[in-house]
Amino acid sequence: MLRVALVGCGVIAPQHITAFAKQQERASLVAFCDLDREKAEHARLLYEQRLGRASQSRIFTSYNEVLEEDTIDAVDLCLPHHLHAEYAIAAARAGKHILCEKPLANTLEDCDRMIAAAKEANVVLFHGENMRLDPVVNRAAEIVREGRIGTITGLQQTYAHWQPEAMNRGWRARPEEAGGGQLMDAAIHHVDILRHIGGEIVQVQAMTTQHRPELGPQSEDTGVLNFRFQRGHLGQLFAGHATRNRGGSPLLTVFGTEGSLTLEAFWPRRGLVWFPANNEPQVLIENHHWQESFDAEVAHFLDVLLEGVPLRATPEEGRRNVQIILAAYESARTGQLVEV
Ligand SMILES: NC(=O)c1ccc[n+]([C@@H]2O[C@H](COP(=O)([O-])OP(=O)(O)OC[C@H]3O[C@@H](n4cnc5c(N)ncnc54)[C@H](O)[C@@H]3O)[C@@H](O)[C@H]2O)c1
Repeated sequence: MLRVALVGCGVIAPQHITAFAKQQERASLVAFCDLDREKAEHARLLYEQRLGRASQSRIFTSYNEVLEEDTIDAVDLCLPHHLHAEYAIAAARAGKHILCEKPLANTLEDCDRMIAAAKEANVVLFHGENMRLDPVVNRAAEIVREGRIGTITGLQQTYAHWQPEAMNRGWRARPEEAGGGQLMDAAIHHVDILRHIGGEIVQVQAMTTQHRPELGPQSEDTGVLNFRFQRGHLGQLFAGHATRNRGGSPLLTVFGTEGSLTLEAFWPRRGLVWFPANNEPQVLIENHHWQESFDAEVAHFLDVLLEGVPLRATPEEGRRNVQIILAAYESARTGQLVEV
């Protein structure tokens, strides 16, 4: 039984709590830590509701006290971006395994320090990019690998979301803490999807703009990113936090010489559609839900720690996503195409 502390009980905590409750045979959330005690208590209550029973879980308002506990094996860091590096490194030094929400960190130097600290302490540093484990995204990657759409000739991705203003009242509105604006916070998921399905990205060209200063006066809320992939094909991402009523579902089409794939990860009835060259389109996955990506993430974290399964959500992948986003910021600033 893996004993885990959930650290940071804000917006994304319920998805992690739900996923851990489904794994109650293998893992237990033994601690909830937040600077705001009420949030930690609320998270514990939600966990108990999901378990359908009371728990012995403890409440902490100090992370250092969590790290001093011998009864905790791992931390699940659901914290503002600027804390990821410092908190993950401290966990590694305390001998705890780490699940760290995306982005891995705000700078490549911090990513490197985290990776080195985990290696040195011989603990697992799991990059908490839920899209990497998402069943629809993985099935799409598999179909591409099997050659069922031939050779990729391009990828086009839309992330169109109306970010709730309440989410951006604190650290998210401050680029020095969030590591940027919408690109570092949200588009980074879609960079991970594009790389997972399309292969490595080697050139980035980007433009950004702002429609909603209330989300962060110095932050972009919309970006268009063009990519050249290692295998020669091109890809494009439109990512917006100022797009009303389309939903946050990643909508991706992968075009190939023998067919195409359309992936609408979180919409019922058309999660994944395959358009073969000489046949009718086939719906391969339907009735998919966002929570499934977190369920798969937590299940894989436990498979890695308890069953010795090789880690698929590696911190090196997380670092590469950060590198692509930093390249996009550089391109938007300079107007130049950036090699990565
Ligand atoms: N995978 C996804 O789809 C997804 C979605 C949303 C957020 N996220 C990620 O989750 C992480 C957290 O985002 P969020 O939206 O939940 O943020 P949030 O601001 O809602 O929650 C962060 C929590 O951390 C607490 N906190 C801050 N400093 C702390 C400290 N020093 N010690 C203990 N607790 C502290 C805050 O009180 C708050 O409750 C980020 O990395 C974000 O990018 C991922």
